[in-house]
Amino acid sequence: MVKILFYDTKEYDKKLFERYNKDYEFEIKYLESKLNNETAPLANGYDAVCIFVNDRAEKETLDILKECGVKLIVLRCAGYNNVDIKNLPEGMSVVRVPRYSPYAVAEHAVALLLSVDRKIYKSYQRTKKYNFTLNGLLGFDIHGKTIGVIGTGKIGKVFINIMKGFGTEVLAYDVYPDEKAAQKMGFKYTTLDELYEKSDIISLHCPLTDENTNMINKDSIKKMKKGVVIINTSRGKLINSDDLIDALGKGKIGGLGLDVFDEEEDFFLNDMSNSYYRNTELSVLLTMPNVVITSHQAFFTKEALDKIGKVSMDNIKEFFETGNCENFVK
Ligand code: NAI
Repeated sequence: MVKILFYDTKEYDKKLFERYNKDYEFEIKYLESKLNNETAPLANGYDAVCIFVNDRAEKETLDILKECGVKLIVLRCAGYNNVDIKNLPEGMSVVRVPRYSPYAVAEHAVALLLSVDRKIYKSYQRTKKYNFTLNGLLGFDIHGKTIGVIGTGKIGKVFINIMKGFGTEVLAYDVYPDEKAAQKMGFKYTTLDELYEKSDIISLHCPLTDENTNMINKDSIKKMKKGVVIINTSRGKLINSDDLIDALGKGKIGGLGLDVFDEEEDFFLNDMSNSYYRNTELSVLLTMPNVVITSHQAFFTKEALDKIGKVSMDNIKEFFETGNCENFVK
């Protein structure tokens, strides 16, 4: 029987995978701890480890897993920037869950945008206190604005479709442009510089790679319109937090919606309210009146979880039965 060790699990993960495992009968152990060098030896005797976005599988960790006998890393997410693929030991493979719900993430990006623009978080807090004033709640029409979309894969395309419904002009940048889709959907590919220059709203939908780490920094922000709204549901490290805070303080960035943060590992998905441990940049951002931060929840819909559960289990079954898998990262 295939033995799998799950890292960084919450109650909802357990419930989900217990439900799906009825059809597969793998031997599963759930750990709350994240995967790192200290926790990797716990995988001794397991065939596979199942990890999520904030588990770190760097070279040393992968080597320990290899020594433990682990043959497969099962990502129960789409992104794989947290696994050092280049240093994957011989005889070890990585699978993931692509396309589990582009709608979940794109719709969350729109929720962040509307919340930032129309100050929903502020008015909610006010009306709760029976304060029905409008001072400080002025927003802008999204209709007629130019939206810059970086990354036009599955999520980016769903986001563009929704934005087209708002009556916007969409400029896009992708390292592999899909001109057919652009024609059909009515958006235009452009250079990054032009996108920065012309967009009123910029939404990030590309994966994190060595090349685009910190792509939103003081130099790129300098090229943007004053008052630009930035939405990031992709990966935190696409943005340099110090430069972001500086630009927010100067009013260059007019609004910010984040579902990810570059140092999120110790905080996101955890209840840290009773801890004294804080991240300075995160704390500064949380105090700013034009910033909305959610805790890597864009994926978190019923439909997306069902897909993650089913496809992860199918990936494991396929790999251990055939040595192959349609969702190989490597
Ligand atoms: P995808 O693979 O369908 O699309 C990614 C697109 O980005 C591709 O068209 C690719 O050519 C493009 N790209 C790659 N490098 C680029 C660069 N340097 N600049 C511009 N474009 C680049 O991926 P999908 O499913 O659309 O997901 C996008 C990202 O969303 C994921 O990589 C992940 O980081 C993030 N994500 C976040 C979630 C959340 O809960 N917040 C959940 C799922 C994904």
